[in-house]
Amino acid sequence: MAEREITVCTLAEIADPGAKEFEYDTGDGREYGFVVCRDGQVTAFVNSCPHTGASLNWGPDRFLTKAGDMIMCGVHGAIFRPHDGHCTQGPCEGQALTALPCRVTDGEVRVTVEG
Ligand code: FES
Repeated sequence: MAEREITVCTLAEIADPGAKEFEYDTGDGREYGFVVCRDGQVTAFVNSCPHTGASLNWGPDRFLTKAGDMIMCGVHGAIFRPHDGHCTQGPCEGQALTALPCRVTDGEVRVTVEG
């Protein structure tokens, strides 16, 4: 399947720590991803929990723990590291989110997706 780079938002539009959901067309349908900004580092993942495949966020753009230091699944509370998506606690401990290539260029957050 072909890959393409999409612009999700500007870096200024994400808090640090913070996250932002985005939607993209895979050619077969719609898929959802999210970007996370933590300590100036931006990463991107598919919005699908390894536990059941459910969306992780517990509200619009709400992907992080209260402290903002980890990603938390709103369904059963799995905890993931923001820099690599590794699950450190919860029902899918040891598994990981699907990472998407992400870079910041000219103040824009760009993510490579399939489709
Ligand atoms: S669906 Fe994410 S922890 Fe169960």
